[in-house]
Amino acid sequence: MYVIGGTASETVANDLSKQLKVPLVKTISKRFPDDELYVRILEDISGEHVVIVQTTYPDKSIIELFLFQDAVKEAGAKKITVVIPYFGYARQDTKFKDGEPISAKAMAKLISQNADEVITVDPHKEHILDFFTVPSFSCSAVFELANYLKEKKIDMILAPDKGALNRAKKAAEIIDCDFDYMEKTRIDGETIEIKPKNLDAQNKNVAIIDDIVSTGGTMAKSIKELKKFGANKVFVACTHGLFAGEAIKKLANAGTDEIISTDTITSDYSKVKIAPAIAEILAKKHR
Ligand code: R5P
Repeated sequence: MYVIGGTASETVANDLSKQLKVPLVKTISKRFPDDELYVRILEDISGEHVVIVQTTYPDKSIIELFLFQDAVKEAGAKKITVVIPYFGYARQDTKFKDGEPISAKAMAKLISQNADEVITVDPHKEHILDFFTVPSFSCSAVFELANYLKEKKIDMILAPDKGALNRAKKAAEIIDCDFDYMEKTRIDGETIEIKPKNLDAQNKNVAIIDDIVSTGGTMAKSIKELKKFGANKVFVACTHGLFAGEAIKKLANAGTDEIISTDTITSDYSKVKIAPAIAEILAKKHR
């Protein structure tokens, strides 16, 4: 097995190659003066099983993934596994209104073209895996996030909506603490409502855990609710830290004590490594 890392996932690819004790392939990825991308594989991978690691966010990273997939195919690899730490466009997983695309399906179909299998981390909804036309699998960051939170003396894990309850429950089991959830209604991409709810948060250290933090609106509202109920420390933990626009400021103003994300998307808050979760699934399938 060989690992290739796109520029959006260099750290994860490096960690994976170390953990699996397989070579990290030397590559070039650079931009032409007109901003078109050029990639090249600098080692012989013909007849090999090649794992390409690339988050499909932002959009430029998608093109890089497609080009590396093509390069690997052209170089004669025997098998191509595409690892997508963060699968962008997964939230448009259905036609919410007439005339819309099913973006997650469109992406999955294109990625499947030069792939024998796909692995992604905490996809927004599991059913998007069915959009790939090759075998596809997901792994969860909950163990890694919960392990980090263990050191923080957490009393309760909170899911910001019912959809995230399972993740909160699993984290609470690992940490050995209570869990609860909020009732959230999404009005549009930027606006959400959270129903007031009696939370037993008085003097407690609480971690709110979700798959994605984008605008930070969901987390900020949840933090405010927790503070209303007298929470002591409030931690924000997510798998995919998009932190769009003023998200970080919003979270800080709401009174969070720490922001924690995995490194599926690289940011100053990527404190938790995702490679062990991906390595485990790769090892299980290919050893
Ligand atoms: C939605 O269902 C997701 O799990 C996240 O809660 C959502 O993407 C967070 O978005 P934002 O940070 O913009 O509120």
